[in-house]
Amino acid sequence: MALERTLILVKPDGVQRKLAGKIISRIEDKGLQIIAVKMLKITPQMSKQHYAEHVSKPFYPELEGFITSGPVIALVVQGPEAVSVMRTLMGSTNGRASAPGTIRGDYGASRQMNLIHGSDSVESAKKEIGVYFQDSEICDAPSVLTPWSWAAEEA
Ligand code: RTP
Ligand code: MG
Repeated sequence: MALERTLILVKPDGVQRKLAGKIISRIEDKGLQIIAVKMLKITPQMSKQHYAEHVSKPFYPELEGFITSGPVIALVVQGPEAVSVMRTLMGSTNGRASAPGTIRGDYGASRQMNLIHGSDSVESAKKEIGVYFQDSEICDAPSVLTPWSWAAEEA
């Protein structure tokens, strides 16, 4: 196991629907550590960097239109296997099929407006964190809760 970082976005629909507090609470409740956060409006250029693997796909123009349509909240989340832990907490891509109990399954019914983004691998996370944050904006201070959140050998 390893301590990982993942890039999370509360997407424009999550911000407009005032679900950001609930979504961020789910991450905190899970026991993961939020080590950076900011609100911003994604530009078309940032979208192309973030979604590089989708730029040539037919749905990309719609995706770019959506993700640049309003402010998002970007976070860096840290914990043991944080990438897959967050993907499980988020639920599958299409909110109509995501399991109840997941963020997408509980709060949405759309494939596009699916509330939250989470990196799909450690490599993607590294690249995506660089799109949104400078190293100096990451607050990786030890948390007093860490010894109560996971055992040392899990990180
Ligand atoms: P995300 O990257 O946003 O966390 O979502 P994901 O990994 O669950 O899904 P991904 O396959 O990476 O797709 C990125 C976003 O593109 C939209 N999408 N539309 N029309 C389509 O077939 C289609 N497929 C994907 C979704 O908004 C998805 O979150
Ligand atoms: Mg993805």
